[in-house]
Amino acid sequence: MKYNYLKFEKRDRIGILTLDRPKALNALNEEVFKDLTCFLESENVNDIRVLIITGEGKAFIAGADIKAMQEYSPQNAYDFSETGKRVFDLIANLEIPVIAAINGFALGGGLELALACDIRVASEKARLGLPEVNLGLIPGFNGTQRLPRLVGAGNAMYLMMLGEGITAQEAYNLGVVQKLSEPDLVLEDTIKLAEKIAGKSPNALRLVKEMVREGLELNSKDAGKMESKEFGRLFKEDQKEREEGVNAFLEKRQPNW
Ligand code: CAA
Repeated sequence: MKYNYLKFEKRDRIGILTLDRPKALNALNEEVFKDLTCFLESENVNDIRVLIITGEGKAFIAGADIKAMQEYSPQNAYDFSETGKRVFDLIANLEIPVIAAINGFALGGGLELALACDIRVASEKARLGLPEVNLGLIPGFNGTQRLPRLVGAGNAMYLMMLGEGITAQEAYNLGVVQKLSEPDLVLEDTIKLAEKIAGKSPNALRLVKEMVREGLELNSKDAGKMESKEFGRLFKEDQKEREEGVNAFLEKRQPNW
């Protein structure tokens, strides 16, 4: 498929999706969302084990497109917010693990996209933040909801009220980012991480993701019950990956899934 603002490359079992609008620091506008929707709903995502999302040039994504938003009516702004949420939910709801490789600025909507991914790896030189308050705005792509669920309300308020980019090290200390890399090695290190994850049971990975994401929306008692149910289901006869994983361990060999 031909995209205006995306590049996609497949390396063995890993897919690498690159936001490709470097002149505007990969800012998110309606065309970019259109490309992302097309990609995320395409078959490209079905035959990979892990998806990496990164940005071309010096930014991961510098946020929603401020120039495009200048002329928005309240209805336009509402629709844009809903579109962004829909696209980010497509990312969050993919059955495979998704890793953000944060090569540079991840600001506003850019950080919100990274928050929709399952894991974030960042360049030590990246700056991350939610600067919307400097524009008289608030995060509009679910950042006010995803960030507190990831790092707690206090840390989320700190970032949203401060409105300044923080260093990657600070983001790592707060738990926004799970791994830091030397600037030139971000993608390489993320691919290595993705390859390790790609070697695990796809079914187990899918379930881990489902339990965490759905569990966050439930109370802990119901979430625990959901986990027991899925754990029990893994012992049904048709659960070939569980059978293969356990057999491989007992036979002292690598599992083949
Ligand atoms: N939207 C549109 N264009 C953007 C942009 C954005 N979010 N961020 C950068 N650009 C454009 C700049 O206007 C500039 O374009 P021109 O060359 O045509 O002037 C180009 O990208 C390069 O940017 P800079 O010259 O500013 O680069 P820099 O290295 O000096 O600064 C930066 C980098 C600190 C990231 C700075 O560009 C910046 O502060 N960007 C805006 C960040 C921001 O406020 N993001 C939040 C957006 S609102 C949002 O995201 C709301 C939401 O949740 C829905």
